[in-house]
Amino acid sequence: MNHFTYRKRVLHAEEVPLSAIADAVGTPVYVYSTATLRRHFRVVTEAFGSHPHLVCYAVKANSTLAVLKLLADEGSGFDIVSGGELARVKAAGGKPGKVVFAGVGKTADEMAQALDAGILFFNVESPEELELLDAVARSKGKRAPFAIRVNPNVDAGTHRHISTGLKTSKFGVPFEEAMALYTRARKMKGLEAVGVDCHIGSQITRTAPFKAALSKVGGLYKELKAKGHALRYLDIGGGLGITYTSETPPSPEEYARAALSAVGDTGATLIFEPGRVLVGNAGLLVTRVLFRKKTPARHFVVVDAGMNDLMRPALYDAHHGLQPLVQRRGQEVEVDVVGPVCESTDVLARQRKVVLPKQGELYALMSAGAYGMSMASTYNSRPRPAEVLVDGDAWRVVRERESVEDLWRGERP
Ligand code: LLP
Repeated sequence: MNHFTYRKRVLHAEEVPLSAIADAVGTPVYVYSTATLRRHFRVVTEAFGSHPHLVCYAVKANSTLAVLKLLADEGSGFDIVSGGELARVKAAGGKPGKVVFAGVGKTADEMAQALDAGILFFNVESPEELELLDAVARSKGKRAPFAIRVNPNVDAGTHRHISTGLKTSKFGVPFEEAMALYTRARKMKGLEAVGVDCHIGSQITRTAPFKAALSKVGGLYKELKAKGHALRYLDIGGGLGITYTSETPPSPEEYARAALSAVGDTGATLIFEPGRVLVGNAGLLVTRVLFRKKTPARHFVVVDAGMNDLMRPALYDAHHGLQPLVQRRGQEVEVDVVGPVCESTDVLARQRKVVLPKQGELYALMSAGAYGMSMASTYNSRPRPAEVLVDGDAWRVVRERESVEDLWRGERP
């Protein structure tokens, strides 16, 4: 459910016609809906009912300060993967005590920053990382709260580029080795085991892979408790999918029911790390048609957004809905919507049936709130888009369009 709807053939974000934003701010521009973000957060957190839990929004999905602040104000915690993301959470007013820190390559500096900030716990992904965390914590006279991210070797049934829970994946510690690692960690004075963690992938559209992974991890949690480890948290990762086209992912309620059926009896506080499901359908990318170009094989529509602005189609063959900002009647044709970037993969929407666009017309690439702006680059020396947050009939620029000068800041010709 989102708040991007047509009214009298004009696409609106809540009460605001998107073309008004495009005309004022220029294109390409990312637009987010406050009502959608709030609703998604509330539905997700309420899905777990009275079971002790904390939603830790996965910052990587959309790390824009205004989005983080909105979620922090709703009471969200945060799942981070770098010192940069920790700094963003703090700058947005997020509580470090509600932050969990994952990632296979944390540096000693990043560990120190997180310890100083007082995060909830580290999700440790290898024995060597555990040793470094112990050393960093001891050098500060602290004990680092940690969970081990276990790799349960479960196929998430999603795109191979966003699967993380298979044994061939770089993520986590093999399930079979986790117990021994907790035992070793007991002797390390700079560490305090507080939980178990897993995350098996992203854009998962069935409950079965979650259940399979969580049953294993829940079993490990109980075994560890039985051996006297004073654990309190079971981090069940993120990964709940959304509808881009015809996917029918479980609702947050169905997801939570499945999770609770697998690990509800552990007595643990559940940490859930959703990214996409909170922000994906709360944002879109508005772009303007530059040219039409007909070749013997194709009908191309060249727009002013490119793969540098929205990388998902080029990287994962991802599908984003294509909607005109103003609907118009006419003959439909099949078009490829392409960007200006000098790469053949710069195709934002392939073989779509639309009323033939005119030069200057505006289109929205839908469901672009997650892994859109946060993955944007400046390839081809293209400044990154502006971002706008709509709230009812009001809207504001929450990130200015990058300037060309921004692109060469720090360079020395
Ligand atoms: N927790 C951990 C440890 C993760 O690695 C991720 C995502 C999440 C939570 C959030 O997953 P979500 O709820 O958003 O599925 N760039 C790709 C997605 C990469 C996901 C990486 N990890 C895409 O555009 O589809």
